[in-house]
Amino acid sequence: MKNQTRRNFLSKLLLSSASIIGLYSNTKSLNARILTTPTHTEGPFYPINKPIDQDADLTFLNNNKKLAQGDIHILKGRVLDINKEPISNALVEIWQANKWGRYQDQRDQSNLPWDKNFQGYGRVNTSENGDYSFRTIKPSGYNYNGIKRTPHIHFKITNEAKNIFITQMYFAGETENEQDMFLQNIKRKSSVVVDFKALPNNEKMGTFDIIVG
Ligand SMILES: [Fe+2]
Repeated sequence: MKNQTRRNFLSKLLLSSASIIGLYSNTKSLNARILTTPTHTEGPFYPINKPIDQDADLTFLNNNKKLAQGDIHILKGRVLDINKEPISNALVEIWQANKWGRYQDQRDQSNLPWDKNFQGYGRVNTSENGDYSFRTIKPSGYNYNGIKRTPHIHFKITNEAKNIFITQMYFAGETENEQDMFLQNIKRKSSVVVDFKALPNNEKMGTFDIIVG
């Protein structure tokens, strides 16, 4: 190959490689935009003082076997990265209002009832396959500073590198969903709305997979 021809060939090769790399990274970032679970702010009630009992079963406290009020929901899912690979040993924290829509938190100044048997906050680490599971009750919605909230559960995910991802999960079929401006402002609502199915024992189970950015 003559020098000039070889130079042309090499520059074409470099150009096409650059296009392929560019296309690939664009595709990856596009995937990230499409697949990542929408984030939320932490909100005012992430517990500063955690309950003594912090396990993944929020339906009772410590050794007191009296159950919290409300319909029991099993909430499970996987924590995944943007390539849908499982993230193991990530800390998954949830916090939520009780059956009447009050947080088990002194900062919640509402007049709604306090449930002395409800844990209100729980934490668990993901398994090797990125799985997590909680047992909790369905919260009610609430009004906070004039803002109407539909029932939801807050999630905070912290990976081993201490990166934090915060989101909220909602309940399918809830009439108040239409009036919740946080939920309505999410572009891909279906990725944070979970359809819980009834189990034979009257509890409900739903799956919320979280794809972190
Ligand atoms: Fe909330």
